[in-house]
Amino acid sequence: MNRVDNVKKAIKYVTFSVIAVSAVIIVLFIIHIVNVNNFNDEWKSVSPGSSATSVLVDIHPRGGVTDTWVKINTGLGTDLNAKIYEMDVTNNAHTYVEDWYLRINIRGNCYINNGWCGTFEIHQFNDDGSEHSQTIDLRDYKIEDVSLNYHQIDQDLLIDLRKGDYIIYHPDTNESSGEVPIKGTEEYSGTCACGVIMYSVTGDIDFSDYEMFYRLNKSIWDGTKGRLFIIAFSLIIVSFIIIGTIFLVSVHSEGKLENKEKMLKDVFSVCCNVADSRDFYSKGHSERVAGYSRMIAEKMGMDKGDCDIVYNAALLHNIGNVYVNEQILRKTGKLTGAEYAEVKTHTTRGAEVLKGITNIPLAAEAALFHHERFDGKGYPHGKKEKEIPLIARIIAVADAYDAMSNDRPYRNKLMRDKIREEFINNRGLQFDPEIVTAFLDIMGEKEL
Ligand SMILES: [Fe+2]
Repeated sequence: MNRVDNVKKAIKYVTFSVIAVSAVIIVLFIIHIVNVNNFNDEWKSVSPGSSATSVLVDIHPRGGVTDTWVKINTGLGTDLNAKIYEMDVTNNAHTYVEDWYLRINIRGNCYINNGWCGTFEIHQFNDDGSEHSQTIDLRDYKIEDVSLNYHQIDQDLLIDLRKGDYIIYHPDTNESSGEVPIKGTEEYSGTCACGVIMYSVTGDIDFSDYEMFYRLNKSIWDGTKGRLFIIAFSLIIVSFIIIGTIFLVSVHSEGKLENKEKMLKDVFSVCCNVADSRDFYSKGHSERVAGYSRMIAEKMGMDKGDCDIVYNAALLHNIGNVYVNEQILRKTGKLTGAEYAEVKTHTTRGAEVLKGITNIPLAAEAALFHHERFDGKGYPHGKKEKEIPLIARIIAVADAYDAMSNDRPYRNKLMRDKIREEFINNRGLQFDPEIVTAFLDIMGEKEL
């Protein structure tokens, strides 16, 4: 397996891991969205008795002499004192507040005269227990439209409020008015103020009974969880960008590697053809032997890298033939002793050529030993059994098969059964028995 294959395999595992982690994060994110939506849909409330909340209400008289005054000759049998009361709503929730309203339960007789930054839904109860209500903007009304119980003193409207009555204050939800923002500040916290002018005999109004209802509009990106999801999604995006970049680079490298492999293959092919062209009967011999050798290597369980080494080395096993006299190689008659000795040198000469080429592993061994016999009666060194490199023992079987399955000057090609018989008879003599077994299996499985 080459480097590009390793990179692609690693990319595959990393991509799978990132996708698996992304899937888990997406599921958690969906759960988070549902939780945030449920949280946002829920109405919450705060009242004077509430335990600590992040949204606070404070109703108090505005300080200062000019904010307090007396109205005399009211026609109601008593003077009335007026005060401005500020209603501060503070949001420390670190998220937007919206859809809020404030209910104030009246605890004693008083009059509401004015109010700003919103409208007032005023509920009055009559002596018979019946209820009457009207929503009114105290900054902008027509006196004839007021259906509540009220008094008009001078130019002022004084709407009666008695114990049991209540007011619901609705803030101005029109953001463009800028009066009461329903959302917090940029930091999601802050204070907005609304106010009322109230009259009573003493001037002191009891505002201790109120309840504010509100909903928060939390962003899914807020809080620790939201920030963690931002980081997680950022990392996922970065991971995919890195994976994509590495993939593109590896594809590009693969293209370059394929070109190199093709060039190498062409060079090999030229070498084989040169070696095979030295006699009339060896055309295609080297490539066929290389193919059979790869089949044997695969049958023996070698991995793809080793099978490639066997194939490439086998392609060049007869390269030494280029140094042998062509007339001897093409001689159809019986060779003399000297001629046969010349032919044998193709092993040593081939090894000599290939021994310095480290990028084609085992090629020199293949060339040098492919005519050795398992019983030690081969050449050039008479090595036997496992002294002969495995690649040479493999090529010996492949070489013999190609010789037997093709016509030669001194005989016709052998039939399949005859070839099998030759291999069986020479098992342990000319050939490694284990490799013969593997090759006979191959012959039984497919047409070569
Ligand atoms: Fe040979």
